[in-house]
Amino acid sequence: MIRWEEPPEGPVLVLLDQTRLPAEEVELVCTDAPALVEAIRSLAVRGAPLLGIAGAYGVALAATRGFDVAEAAVALKGARPTAVNLSVGVRRAEAAHQAALAKTGDPAAAAAAALAAARSLHREDAEASARMAAHGLAFLDELLPGGGHRILTHCNSGSLVSGGEGTAFAVALAAHREGRLRRLWVDETRPLLQGARLTAYEAARSGMAYTLLTDNAAGSLFAAGEVDAVLIGADRIAADGSVANKVGSYPLAVLARYHHVPFIVVAPVTTVDPGTPDGASIEVEQRPGSEVTELSVPQVPVTGPGGGLPVAPLGTQAYNPAFDVTPPELVTAIVTEEGAVSPVTAETLAELCARSCP
Ligand code: MRU
Repeated sequence: MIRWEEPPEGPVLVLLDQTRLPAEEVELVCTDAPALVEAIRSLAVRGAPLLGIAGAYGVALAATRGFDVAEAAVALKGARPTAVNLSVGVRRAEAAHQAALAKTGDPAAAAAAALAAARSLHREDAEASARMAAHGLAFLDELLPGGGHRILTHCNSGSLVSGGEGTAFAVALAAHREGRLRRLWVDETRPLLQGARLTAYEAARSGMAYTLLTDNAAGSLFAAGEVDAVLIGADRIAADGSVANKVGSYPLAVLARYHHVPFIVVAPVTTVDPGTPDGASIEVEQRPGSEVTELSVPQVPVTGPGGGLPVAPLGTQAYNPAFDVTPPELVTAIVTEEGAVSPVTAETLAELCARSCP
């Protein structure tokens, strides 16, 4: 999904452009931090863990190409506000750069240290992903003995967002490989269709049984008794256990509670932010209204002022938060690479953080 290359013209960061999937697999080449900031804003690169990895490589890119590292770090951290992993990744590479510069006074050595930090974050994310999958499947099996899981997921949380196989999707994939996944229900995830375009793409490639549904069909699916568990990722988890994830996650948590279905969040410990005390303190990114008033997917011809196909009268106002916040009392468990936290409370999360938060 992301790789560092060093052609003779200078180092570049190569990304799979997720705005073009599933129609085409096109790579985007970033030669500097502003190009990466634009790729992050446009969601060409997206999903909390991958944003952290991209942010770290972005600092390395600025350093290696001789740009102002502090300026690049500020721009990268500000590209999207909700996923805490982005600033965690940027800070980690920036700290490595500063420490090496202070020690050696050599910009090349400092740039190499920033790159090494980005590479190790990338590697650690792959390892964390495998451990989350194992812990998540063990938790599911304990909760729902007998297997044959029918899992509902929202947005996209597989290998497209990770150095490894992802977060929530990685658990479903592990269940599939063990023959214990009966079906993955994939919410389409309006307005940008990360479920339809990206999760369905990953599910199809894995060979698992999956079915796509519109977000507003989830209620009838629960009512029909067709969902055994909800598995989602997270963009930021506050100290009290509130979970910010793609808008539409909170209504699923409410539905899950009403129907006595476990609602499980799968995220690396880097997504837990002890500096954000509660859900109300999480900054929720607001996206352009044109993402709602127009269809903006690669297959759709461009005719509207926002660059998509209008589906509402011109001038219609839209409410378009990118994320919503689920309160901890609706979350059955948070599964991390360090194990499952359940019940989710300020105390149980503080224990996890004391052991392993960055
Ligand atoms: O706006 P996006 O597509 O970046 O939103 C992504 C999500 O909400 C994911 O569910 C989240 O980052 C967790 S992915 C591991």
